[in-house]
Amino acid sequence: MIVLGIESSCDETGVAIYETDIGLRGDLLYSQAEMHAQYGGVVPELASRDHIQRVIPLIDQLLNEADITSEQVGGVAYTAGPGLMGALMVGACVGRSLAYSWGVHAVEVHHMEGHLLAPLLEDKRPEFPFIALLVSGGHTQLIRVDGVGRYQLLGESVDDAAGEAFDKTAKLLGLRYPGGPALSKLAEEGNPERFTFPRPMVDRPGLDFSFSGLKTYARNTLQNGSEEPTIGADVARAFEDAVADTLAIKCRRALRESGLNRLVVAGGVSANQRVRLRLSEIAEKEGGEAFFPRLNFCTDNGAMIAFAGALRLQAGEHSSLAIETRARWPLSELTAVS
Ligand code: KG4
Ligand code: ZN
Repeated sequence: MIVLGIESSCDETGVAIYETDIGLRGDLLYSQAEMHAQYGGVVPELASRDHIQRVIPLIDQLLNEADITSEQVGGVAYTAGPGLMGALMVGACVGRSLAYSWGVHAVEVHHMEGHLLAPLLEDKRPEFPFIALLVSGGHTQLIRVDGVGRYQLLGESVDDAAGEAFDKTAKLLGLRYPGGPALSKLAEEGNPERFTFPRPMVDRPGLDFSFSGLKTYARNTLQNGSEEPTIGADVARAFEDAVADTLAIKCRRALRESGLNRLVVAGGVSANQRVRLRLSEIAEKEGGEAFFPRLNFCTDNGAMIAFAGALRLQAGEHSSLAIETRARWPLSELTAVS
């Protein structure tokens, strides 16, 4: 079956074609980052307006480039949540309507399930069960995954998500939105010995995270040493090390407590090289392995939605004609597929 996937939950319009027997046939992305950068973050109303301008031309280009006609498409998958309501409604309305006019089923995809399954698009793919660390702009979650749709939440952020902490700290450092990649670039020039930031909540039992204190720590450190020219890079490095190390400590704990040794890491922050390195190290030390999506598929994209949707359509799932989108949607509410 050939499935069209549409992602529009935040500031990226992503479209892709996944064919169940073959794999990914094409994917295209339009990022609105440049537009939102002028405002220092995502402006929801502008995001919705931009998605509606981009999505149809992008789908048209995708089908042309992949040499696929609309008659060949067997199903449409769209992100139905969690995310910005207006932005979600664009992808949902377009996806649902295309499916209706083409006479095929449509299926709602949970954005975080898309991220979680993205590493399965790679040649080196993990077997179930595994521990997943989802680290995006809106979520930091540790999940036990026993199959598609079989998710048990083990821990999550009690305040800022890891990506959000990157973005806010980047802002303090005077960096442009999106802050994560910019902070990471600055950190390369930083001295790792200069500052040591706390590893929040690692001395307490459990698998929850708290990253908002690191931003305050960064602010105070910057104020105390604001005269020095390398302070920004040194703070960026200390911050990045603290986040990577905290994630690693909690992942190791989750692996030990579950008795599993496969670790899947996905979501925007999984594009961070220091995070990838630290998490690979701990998984290997536990006798296992860490799995990541390719860099383009760490951040939002249409491929992960086409893929997750294809698995659900294949299992006979589909949405009703009434379009429903959700700003919040716990992963645990999804139905098991395999
Ligand atoms: O998964 P994603 O594209 O969107 C959400 O679902 O939220 O994640 C975006 C987040 C942003 O906070 C961004 O700053 C962060 O991922 N991010 C990074 C890097 N690339 C993206 N954070 C640190 N290092 C990176 N290289
Ligand atoms: Zn995302």
